[in-house]
Amino acid sequence: MQQLQLLKQLYALRAFGVEYVDEPRSVERGNPMQKSDLPSTLSALREYVNACHLCALSKTRTHVVFGEGAEDADIMFIGEGPGEMEDNTGRPFVGRAGQLLTKIIENVLEMPREAVYIANVVKCRPPANRVPTPEEANLCKPYLLRQIELVDPRILVALGSTSYKYLTGDMQTPISRVRGELVDFGGRKLIPTYHPSYLLRNPSAKKAVWQDMLKVKAML
Ligand code: URA
Repeated sequence: MQQLQLLKQLYALRAFGVEYVDEPRSVERGNPMQKSDLPSTLSALREYVNACHLCALSKTRTHVVFGEGAEDADIMFIGEGPGEMEDNTGRPFVGRAGQLLTKIIENVLEMPREAVYIANVVKCRPPANRVPTPEEANLCKPYLLRQIELVDPRILVALGSTSYKYLTGDMQTPISRVRGELVDFGGRKLIPTYHPSYLLRNPSAKKAVWQDMLKVKAML
């Protein structure tokens, strides 16, 4: 079916005198929109992402959760994906895990939440809060990369193993081994740490996150 459509497109183009075409978008794999083709301001990018239907998460979302915070933040926190509260409100990290993240920012980094930028690997809620699939994460990744480029933070904090894995492509190293270490991310510093939801289930891991955040604070 797809091949038939492709053939029709090629015949139509030939009828208009075209002798050669690049591989059409419909047969490309992954997000056809390259990072460099995406809007060059955060507000235009937000509008663009709000209209995204590249994956099935767009069918079940209530709101796209683009991200929020200081547009020139030094620190950007990157979570996994919106949960129920985030999907309902369109804002990242506003549920229980979000309240803990806000406390960490205020009490350890000693700055208001509004001074950092907060985003997620995927911008739409995965049903029942399941982990985003590699396809969903890869389709959404150009948006996140553009967001990083536009906010231009010095430090990225990957919250939890999903964020770390999809950001870096390192699918092997457990978060418990890599947390607190500085990883090069295209010239920026990326520090993985535990996700606040994990801390809600395992309060004894808070100490490690506190240490990681003190490391971040010392780099400011
Ligand atoms: N968990 C995430 O990873 N992101 C959110 O925005 C909320 C909860």
